[in-house]
Amino acid sequence: MARNAWFETVAEAQRRARRHLPPSVYKALLAGSERGRTYRDNMEAFAALGFAPHVADLPAKRDLATTVMGQQISLPVIISPTGVQAVHPDGEVAVARAAAARGTAMGLSNFASKPVEEVVAANPQTFFQMYWMGTKDQMAAQMERARAAGAKGLIVTLDWTFSHGRDWGSPWIPERLDLKAIARFAPQGLARPQWLLTYARTGRLPDLTVPNVVPAGQRPPTFFGAYGEWMQTPPPTWEDVRWMRERWDGPFMLKGISRIDDARRAVDAGATAISVSNHGGNNLDGTPATIRLLPGIAAAVGDQVEVLLDGGVRRGGDVVKALALGARAVMIGRAYLWGLAANGQAGVENVLDIMRNGIDSALLGLGRASVHDLGPGDVVIPPGFTREIGA
Ligand SMILES: Cc1cc2nc3c(=O)[nH]c(=O)nc-3n(C[C@H](O)[C@H](O)[C@H](O)COP(=O)(O)O)c2cc1C
Repeated sequence: MARNAWFETVAEAQRRARRHLPPSVYKALLAGSERGRTYRDNMEAFAALGFAPHVADLPAKRDLATTVMGQQISLPVIISPTGVQAVHPDGEVAVARAAAARGTAMGLSNFASKPVEEVVAANPQTFFQMYWMGTKDQMAAQMERARAAGAKGLIVTLDWTFSHGRDWGSPWIPERLDLKAIARFAPQGLARPQWLLTYARTGRLPDLTVPNVVPAGQRPPTFFGAYGEWMQTPPPTWEDVRWMRERWDGPFMLKGISRIDDARRAVDAGATAISVSNHGGNNLDGTPATIRLLPGIAAAVGDQVEVLLDGGVRRGGDVVKALALGARAVMIGRAYLWGLAANGQAGVENVLDIMRNGIDSALLGLGRASVHDLGPGDVVIPPGFTREIGA
């Protein structure tokens, strides 16, 4: 790891993550699918938007605080749920601590490597995220466990399409780290001695299990064991979504919305919030960038649910662009994963600081005293930029 562990941009955190992680772990975080069109468009579309700054009458102080699903947060950025097996021994607990230290909320995946109880203890502002997998009894038990642990909201992610091919190749990930797997993995691990050392210090190998899909205390399945079960589960109907909503007594987000008609159905199903999301470009490649879809969805349902966005956010300016086009807040994925890989909990805090400083700087330039004052007039939208689907 670099002697000065601080980094100034997410791009630099990603470079360090690439140097620090074994190639297959790095590739698992990079993810993407097929041509990588959606993965790239998520970022390029943010870059295509401009700003419309002022030079005088600028606010001396800027207010970044807001709320998401009833949680007061100090900046409009929360942690998007990801499974972070093998990135860092402290995994999602380090991410949760960093989010708490910076005053924001944590989304915890049911495919995460740490138990929900430990994560909520590290950050009481935790939302538990589930996929539609297993039987209704198993799902109800997962919700109950999260509720008992103190999770403040439920995120249900419905946009996964089990697309596993990438033109740049997929990493090899073992089912479990047995001797055979260790022998095959050894050359990669030995080429990344610092990464190996962070695990050697704990005396444990990376744990490739998913503890949150079973009741507390039960032996957790492997990542791939759980994944196989998920693949066998018939996909949910809107009636199933309503069932889930009714089982969860608290704020409820549907993550993965691209279409206006689905956003309306999410409202009808009783969602508190939606995230305009394409899973960071990890599934159906060719789905438009989320920032292109946001204005149409926010115009259709923004007065009925909290509209969030995730996908492609790499700097504070991106956050401001999303807010200007109708988001209440954004969720970040790879940005914090790069920070975690580069420098553990401090690296995630570093990423949140980059977001905060970037938001503050853009607000200053735009002459906005608060994140709540942003509007479409603050950004320059190229002709043909937006996409409305399912109107
Ligand atoms: C390695 C990786 C794992 C992910 N795992 C999950 C997950 O378990 N649950 C989920 O809802 N989304 C998951 N996502 C999607 C993120 O929550 C988020 O939608 C996406 O990363 C946003 O795009 P960004 O990475 O460009 O910020 C994952 C994304 C990545 C890159």
